Amino acid sequence: MYLSSLNARDFRNFEELSLEPNPRFNILYGDNGQGKTNLLEAIFWLGTLRPIRTSRLRELNRWKTKACKVSGSVNLEGLTHRLAVEFKDGVRQAYREDKKVRSSSFFGALSVVLFTPDDVGLIRGAPERRRRFLDRAIFTGRPSHLEDFVNYRRALDARNQLLRERGPTDLIEVYEQTLSVIAHKLICSRREFVEEIKVKFVENLATILGPEYECSVRYKPSIDIGETDGIQQLQSTWAIDRERDRERGFTQRGPHADDLNFHILGHSARTYASQGQQRSMVLAMKIAEIQLLKERNNQIPIVLLDDVSSELDATRNERLFEFLNGFEGQVFITTTDPHFLRIDGDQSSWQVHNGSVDSSKD
Ligand SMILES: Nc1ncnc2c1ncn2[C@@H]1O[C@H](COP(=O)(O)OP(=O)(O)OP(=O)(O)O)[C@@H](O)[C@H]1O
Ligand SMILES: [Mg+2]
Repeated sequence: MYLSSLNARDFRNFEELSLEPNPRFNILYGDNGQGKTNLLEAIFWLGTLRPIRTSRLRELNRWKTKACKVSGSVNLEGLTHRLAVEFKDGVRQAYREDKKVRSSSFFGALSVVLFTPDDVGLIRGAPERRRRFLDRAIFTGRPSHLEDFVNYRRALDARNQLLRERGPTDLIEVYEQTLSVIAHKLICSRREFVEEIKVKFVENLATILGPEYECSVRYKPSIDIGETDGIQQLQSTWAIDRERDRERGFTQRGPHADDLNFHILGHSARTYASQGQQRSMVLAMKIAEIQLLKERNNQIPIVLLDDVSSELDATRNERLFEFLNGFEGQVFITTTDPHFLRIDGDQSSWQVHNGSVDSSKD
């Protein structure tokens, strides 16, 4: 899979952007504040329908404009797919093969994995961040996960509303039944995914940090269900919680309150791991995500690296480039100084300057 063309209009500081990326390495260099991360964000938005740095889509519109659009052609196993996403009049619209589509029919042609300096929040930040990582990673390999997730949120919102309004118990029970079926699917997908990814995570981390730092990652569901009768267990947990949930006005336990625990030498990485160790853990996790996608779906996602070299020490940096040089897919990498990069292989360099991009194919 690779992006063979990328276009954007009025997206962040790009008035018009038109790029024919290299199927292998694309180096985006330039001074601070020129639009390098914006360009990655355009690709990320096209791949995930989510911006990188905001949840408010209107921030993507170039200042003083009211609409923005990103489009691109993806080459997937020899076939070209046209994808586009637009934000106009307060509405986001996705297009596939130039036809309007719902997000569930949009996904499948383009997968992206992003590395940014901000990733350290995966270890250090709130559980919501780790759940988002987990769900996005599952969904990249299996787009139907998104539908389960949306359905769960919908049923959860309905239960919460009934709790707040002191709605009738039998109606709340109906929502608990619906919730338990979808929640069970979500928990099983998450559990299965973490079981698979953790083996690779531990191996990758031993390579990056050295084997003496024994690390682990564990899925921590807020309702711990067994291998059998999971749906029943969820229902009885919500029945037990019902009165307390009514008092608080929301559902306290369920997949929306799950977490992922990272440990280093038996201690919580969130509290005890150093900054560099936390960064290495995220790196190991994302590389594992890529390996898993390849193994499970025979799919190699596009890798977006935002300024990561400047965040790593020389040894870690070298290991990152060892991985990248052995990686078969398309890579976009931003830097203020291309001399940091140690890339062998076919590559194009692009200078990003004040919202425009100049090519200089090497
Ligand atoms: N909606 C927008 N409209 C116009 N300009 C914007 C918009 N959003 C951000 N910008 C501008 O884009 C620039 C930032 O771009 P970006 O974050 O891509 O920089 P960068 O090249 O990655 O810099 P750095 O090396 O510091 O990370 C800033 O000048 C910012 O003011
Ligand atoms: Mg940047």
